[in-house]
This record gives sequence, structure tokens and C-alpha cells, in this order.
Amino acid sequence: MGLRHYPSMLGVTLLAVLSLPAVLTSEAGSTAGPDIARGQALAGGECAGCHGADGNSEIPTFPKLAGQHVVYLLKELNDYNQAHRASDIMQPMAASLSEQDKLDIAHFYARQKPAPGTVAKPELLALGKQVYLEGNSKNGVPSCDGCHDEDGAGSGKFPRVAGQHPEYLLEELQRYASGKRSHGTRVMRTVAERLTPEEAEAVSQYMASLE
Ligand code: HEC
Ligand code: HEC
Repeated sequence: MGLRHYPSMLGVTLLAVLSLPAVLTSEAGSTAGPDIARGQALAGGECAGCHGADGNSEIPTFPKLAGQHVVYLLKELNDYNQAHRASDIMQPMAASLSEQDKLDIAHFYARQKPAPGTVAKPELLALGKQVYLEGNSKNGVPSCDGCHDEDGAGSGKFPRVAGQHPEYLLEELQRYASGKRSHGTRVMRTVAERLTPEEAEAVSQYMASLE
């Protein structure tokens, strides 16, 4: 300890000071920038039991949040808050979070490395790939890559779907079709209504296979 460590400590302090304005301005409308360590602590306490310590949930109907986009995560948490997205589990969870909590947690999850997905029905991958990359002109389903990207990475308000649990993805397509997710989801509702049950399952398997 002591003087030997002084130069490196100074370096860290300077870096923190220099990067502060950038953090503040990148979060328009919020009072403080994201605190990743605080986000990790909050996520580790309340959310980890279902979503995994690093956002890679192990349970097929609990979505992975690792590597998910901040804009999208915040929108979904607010949609639960405003009952635009119905979930007996997530509505009370979201209601317990302050705006700062949501910001910190979203930034923590966005920085975690997503684990690869598990494909249960490889025989559906060929059809799933076709739907994902080309859509289906017969029933008017658009391709998915225009918004979710060819590799499933998504961006901003377009969620990452690569490596997500196929059971969860399929369930969400059914929720769009039935109107349980209805806020700012006109495209997804139309997509989900038009997919045949087989196409919905196949494209869910294909999204899970993407890395
Ligand atoms: C008891 C299990 C459980 C706990 C605890 C839990 N979640 Fe969830 N979470 C779920 C389930 C199930 C869903 C999917 C619900 C749905 O279909 O809308 C979900 C969905 C989400 C989504 C939407 C993901 C997406 O891809 O659209 C976010 C964001 C989220 N949870 C964040 C959190 C945060 C933050 C916490 C902690 C404060 C938390 N969850 C605690 C089970 C849980
Ligand atoms: C025009 C853009 C667009 C196209 C095309 C599109 N999506 Fe989406 N998708 C979105 C947006 C935006 C959301 C988030 C909506 C919300 O807030 O619920 C979404 C959400 C989803 C979700 C929920 C993810 C989660 O974590 O809960 C799934 C699954 C999905 N899309 C699958 C597909 C599939 C499969 C296709 C192609 C057949 C497709 N999407 C085409 C824009 C698009």
C-alpha cells in the first residue's frame, strides 16, 4: 500500500472525472447517469432468482436479459408499470423499482454476455430460417431480420432475440397475437397473428440458435 499505488489511483480518479459528463449527457431526461454496480446489486437481490445472476436465466419461460438493449429493457419495465404488458409476476416486480433502479438495472443487464440458446427441435430450423430471413409472402409475414438483424442482435427498441429461450419467444408471439402485449407493438401483433403455429414454433427455434 502507500505511495507505490498513488499513480494508478490518480489515473482511475481522473478517468472517472473525465468520463462523467459523457455519461450524464448520454441519458437525456434522467437526473443521474447509470450506476452499474448498484444495478448489479439490485439485480442480484430481486431478479436473480428468475433471470440468473448475470441475466442468463436457466428456466425456459423466464427470459434471458443478458446483452439485451437498454432502450428496450426500460420500455418493457415501464409497460409493466402502466399495465400495457400483462404479467402477474412482472407487474409487481416493476412497480417496486424507482426510475433510477430501472436505469441502473437495465445498464447492468445490457453489459452482460448472453449465453448461447438451446435448440430443442433442430428439424424445424430450416423452416425457421426461411421465415426469419424471407418472411412468408403467402400469409403476408414480413422477414424478421429488418428489425431484429440478420444475427438476431437487434438494437435500441428492437430486442435481441439471438440465443433467447425458444419457449419464451413462442409464448410472447402468442401474447402479441392475443393482445396481452399491445403498447407500440402494431407490427409484432400483425406478424404474430399471421404466422401459422408451425411457423411460430420454427422461427422461435431458429432465433434460439442464433449467437
Ligand atoms: C418470479 C420470477 C421473476 C422475478 C423475481 C423477476 N422476473 Fe422479470 N420476468 C419473469 C417472467 C416470467 C417474464 C416474462 C413475463 C411476460 O411474459 O411478460 C419476465 C420478463 C421480464 C422482462 C421483459 C424481458 C423481455 O425480453 O421482454 C424484464 C425487463 C424483466 N423481467 C426484468 C426483471 C427485473 C429487473 C426483475 C427484478 C427487479 C425481475 N424481472 C424479476 C420472471 C421474473
Ligand atoms: C418492423 C420491425 C419488426 C419486424 C419486421 C419484426 N419485429 Fe419482432 N419486435 C419488434 C419490436 C419493436 C419489438 C418490441 C415490441 C414491444 O415493446 O413489445 C419486437 C419484439 C419481438 C419479440 C419479443 C422479444 C422479447 O424479448 O420479448 C419477438 C419474439 C419477436 N419480436 C419476433 C419477431 C419475429 C419472429 C419476426 C419475423 C417473423 C419479427 N419479430 C419481425 C419489431 C419488429
